[in-house]
Amino acid sequence: DSYTHLRGESVYLDDIPMTNGTLFCAVFDSPIAHGKIKLLDTAEATTMAGVVRIFTAADIPGENQIGGIIPDEELLANTHVHFCGMPIALVVATSDEAARAAIKKIKVEIDPLPIITDPREAKGKGELIIPPRTFQLGDTTNAWSKCDYILEGQTETNGQEHLYIETQGAYAVPQENGAFRIYSSTQGPTAVQRTVARVLNLPMNQVEVDTTRLGGGFGGKEDQATTWAVLCALASYHLKKPVKYSLHRMEDMRMTGKRHPYSSDFKIGLSKELKILAYEATFYQNAGAAADLSPAVMERTLFHCNNTYFIPNVKATAFCCRTNLPPNTAFRGFGGPQGMFVIEAAITKAADALNIPASEIQQKNLLQTGDEFPYGQIADSEANECWNKADEQFNIKELQKGVDEFNASNKNHKKGLAIMPICFGISFTKTLMNQARSLVHVYTDGSVGVSTGAVEMGQGVNTKMLQVAASVFSIDPSKIKINTTNTYRIANTSPSAASATADLNGIATEIACTTILQRLKEVAAEELKTELSSVEIKNERIYIDGKATDWDWNKLVMAAYVKRISLSELAHYTPPGIHFDATKEKGHPFAYHVYGTSITTVTVDCIRGIYEVDAVKVVHDFGKSMNTMIDIGQCEGGIVQGIGWMTMEEIIYDKEGKLRSNALSTYKVPDIYSVPKEITIQSLTTEKNNLAIFRSKAVGEPPLMYGIGAYFALRNAVKAFNPTTVIPFDAPMTPEKVLMSLYPNT
Ligand code: MTE
Ligand code: HPA
Ligand code: MOS
Repeated sequence: DSYTHLRGESVYLDDIPMTNGTLFCAVFDSPIAHGKIKLLDTAEATTMAGVVRIFTAADIPGENQIGGIIPDEELLANTHVHFCGMPIALVVATSDEAARAAIKKIKVEIDPLPIITDPREAKGKGELIIPPRTFQLGDTTNAWSKCDYILEGQTETNGQEHLYIETQGAYAVPQENGAFRIYSSTQGPTAVQRTVARVLNLPMNQVEVDTTRLGGGFGGKEDQATTWAVLCALASYHLKKPVKYSLHRMEDMRMTGKRHPYSSDFKIGLSKELKILAYEATFYQNAGAAADLSPAVMERTLFHCNNTYFIPNVKATAFCCRTNLPPNTAFRGFGGPQGMFVIEAAITKAADALNIPASEIQQKNLLQTGDEFPYGQIADSEANECWNKADEQFNIKELQKGVDEFNASNKNHKKGLAIMPICFGISFTKTLMNQARSLVHVYTDGSVGVSTGAVEMGQGVNTKMLQVAASVFSIDPSKIKINTTNTYRIANTSPSAASATADLNGIATEIACTTILQRLKEVAAEELKTELSSVEIKNERIYIDGKATDWDWNKLVMAAYVKRISLSELAHYTPPGIHFDATKEKGHPFAYHVYGTSITTVTVDCIRGIYEVDAVKVVHDFGKSMNTMIDIGQCEGGIVQGIGWMTMEEIIYDKEGKLRSNALSTYKVPDIYSVPKEITIQSLTTEKNNLAIFRSKAVGEPPLMYGIGAYFALRNAVKAFNPTTVIPFDAPMTPEKVLMSLYPNT
């Protein structure tokens, strides 16, 4: 993609040329977080210049329902609103500006109902979206008596705005016979297709969804791209015109859900030898007003509650709490980071009590191969390998010594260091979602077209698909085109998510290419009168028993065509061996795990409370990376995004459920000045057979969790300034919170 990116020629939703007569949308959304709609008056808005029509729930021909996991979310509010930002009406006009001007003239009267924004309050009132779930290993009840140290505490992690550079958007174009083509900035084209069909009461085969690429998704477009596509389709259905909606940043921030905030309790027990013997955690997930992906996100919190440590006795319970906030959704890590923060806080609390560095406890409890996760899967662990290599490469003792010496000789600046080992399971936790298809065509001129369900969102998956096809066929990448993601070419796709896109779609592509290659080799053997096993194709040349022939790729392709051999293949792939039994909460849900260890150092200005991240040094388990540039890019991006979540990005809803941090002036994301001065990524290269594409492990989400180290490094720096200060485990650690914890009594 870099060629078209650099030239400004890459096509995003807003770059798609519009058909003559295209109309534009704007949503009128609820100003109140909870209530009964008494009156909706669109009369004046309808008369505004350029306004074509205003749609409400009454205009929906099928189901007024967009819930993916649970049918609990209306597209347009019918009688009740459940969060500020909930769509109530859709204005369609001849221009963007006209649509947005008309919004201001819509009047609504809402009888207010009680508003809940806090997940613990929701749980107290029985407002749960699904019943609680508990993961258990061993027996914590009996384990406490064997512990020499027991500590308890509470943690908070706030949400996070996705802030993809390209906002949500869609463009619906009516086709003949009542069908639709929908361009959508979505990670889940099939989710869009299914929901358009449901809302418009159409069969899915009437809905073509096409996605070229996204300007970022980060999970925010796994489920929540659907709304805008369906709204465009609804208007297009009634007006028989193309309809486009590209959200303004503030609309996007106000109306879409974010990373789930969690409030959690922990209890941790250790032996004198610093082995963690028991761990209990209770997670209160702030799901927002509808399920969206929350039940699945909650499940992943439980999967990652022990991070990368072996704990023989674990009991972790999670509550999916319904509040009057926009439904929260997938965000890089998908609940995993929230679970991992809590165990890190528990370890830190224990380390503080024992007056030792947390790293002593961390290292002593790292997972070993053969250890059991609380959900029954047996670890094939690289945790110790990553930690040890990090120590070898970066010398943890020396780094800590540098920090200590700096702190001894500086009064108003203090440094802090924290180690963050990670472990992340690769596969959709819902086993059935782990399937993908790839459609490969070889054309008679030797060029190749590849279509998969993978959506390019900046993570480089198209490049990886291209590499797979080029490598299997052994042809130049310039001969290959990766097509847009399209539901007419590839059906029933899982969203591009769970870091598994390259594995699932890549292996499907590998299978498709291998099948075609086999046919080509058979043709070559026949034409060149030799054994099939003697034939090899290398760099577009046909070899027999290692000797080059005068046949090249193009000649062979044409020969196959002449012999009426198929040059196309649709392959299906599903990873073997994964399963999970949700009644027992046990199984083998992940194809494999990704490990890593980061060392983060920060410097705090103890007068102002501001800080800098000096360095993040990482040893990351790439398996055998198939593209180091992409994979290091994913690490760097993930780390910065994780640091943002942990240190500066602060979502604030007031008691009325209104988003106060509703623009980039009030919501701070990492900029060029706040990224770490140094990010060093070293690879732990392993060649184990690991179910990853070409043994190149998934890399999209895991590095985000290195960012958690920044929180604990800041904490250590503050403690170096004020050893007796009590710092609540309350992320993000904003400069304001740093200042308060430096001077708690002033
Ligand atoms: N990188 C970029 N540049 N843009 C994105 O939107 N999304 C992340 C990660 N890296 C994202 C990204 C998330 S949330 C996931 S799940 C994975 O990429 C999805 O892609 P993959 O499965 O190909 O890793
Ligand atoms: N990860 C990411 N996205 C998902 C998952 C998952 O495990 N399950 C459903 N959507
Ligand atoms: Mo990523 S949160 O699985 O889209």
